[in-house]
Amino acid sequence: MTATPMIGKPVADAIVAKVVADVAYLKETYDVVPQLRVIQVGTDASSEVYLQNKIKSFSKIGIQVRPHTFESSVSAAEIEDLVSALSEDRSVHGIMIGLPLPAHIENATGAARGKFDIFDRIHQFKDVDGVSRHSTAELYRGQLERLTFLPSTALAVSRMLKFYGVETTGKRVVVVGRNDITGKPIHHMLGGRMGNATVSWCHRFTPKETHDDLTRAADIVITCVGSARYQLKADVLRSGSTVIDVGTRVDKNGNLIGDVHFDDVKHVAAFLTPVPRGVGPVTVACLMENVVRATRFCVGEDVRGYQL
Ligand SMILES: NC(=O)c1ccc[n+]([C@@H]2O[C@H](COP(=O)([O-])OP(=O)(O)OC[C@H]3O[C@@H](n4cnc5c(N)ncnc54)[C@H](OP(=O)(O)O)[C@@H]3O)[C@@H](O)[C@H]2O)c1
Repeated sequence: MTATPMIGKPVADAIVAKVVADVAYLKETYDVVPQLRVIQVGTDASSEVYLQNKIKSFSKIGIQVRPHTFESSVSAAEIEDLVSALSEDRSVHGIMIGLPLPAHIENATGAARGKFDIFDRIHQFKDVDGVSRHSTAELYRGQLERLTFLPSTALAVSRMLKFYGVETTGKRVVVVGRNDITGKPIHHMLGGRMGNATVSWCHRFTPKETHDDLTRAADIVITCVGSARYQLKADVLRSGSTVIDVGTRVDKNGNLIGDVHFDDVKHVAAFLTPVPRGVGPVTVACLMENVVRATRFCVGEDVRGYQL
């Protein structure tokens, strides 16, 4: 078997075409240009690649992106203050926090202020990555027709599955990784009423034998790890499965690397996303869609609900 490569471009192109029309509509109707603010802390190579690509591709279609950069020693409270100000600023439509944040913010426990305090300062109609208290509650409830924002990576995975005709209802899915904008929302979308699959969740504390048993039985495996210590190979997969590689990292030669050994897995899987050119471009397109959506909320339109 040689897997059908799930190339992101045709999926992204269809989303971007709609975004371009919406950008023109916003300009014509309200004289508004969508404006995204990105908060970037420290210098993580993978996030930096993502940010630069974003600024370039967004400006091409008429969405302005402005980064706010902090040293990695910044406190959560300082970021909270900026996010509150941006949430109040009527000229700003979307707010996005570059993840992961430094460990003292990302992993803060107890009374220490951390990432969730920052996420909760994002105005519900500007939360383009769907991380605030408001968005996560809606994701948990899973009423597609009422959703304000779905995280763009999870939305991208869902759109890729649909475009390539991969059924999720009744299927066994394994999601590897459980963080806020990737594994966690993907788990809720596919395992909840938006996907109707039976979903297992793996993370750093999942014993390797348990992980391998689950992936060997899975119809769909979605990896969201991005660590050199994790690699998915054909020996732990079922023949004919679908493998979605979300995780990315930059190796010492500057190449973008996924979680999946593509050349090995392509002989076993029926559908497989490459890295690069897989989920990444669709995530960017879904983020554009969410920024336009945020802008429409900000001009007073009620655009709740998603079509997957
Ligand atoms: N392609 C795209 O469009 C796109 C978009 C966004 C992000 N990404 C990439 O996706 C990856 C994940 O993003 P993130 O923000 O969720 O990263 P993250 O915060 O670093 O989370 C990584 C997750 O992987 C788990 N993990 C780490 N080592 C593992 C192992 N050996 N076995 C199983 N699970 C393991 C962690 O488990 P614990 O919870 O136990 O720590 C954690 O849940 C990153 O590489 C990021 O660059 C790609």
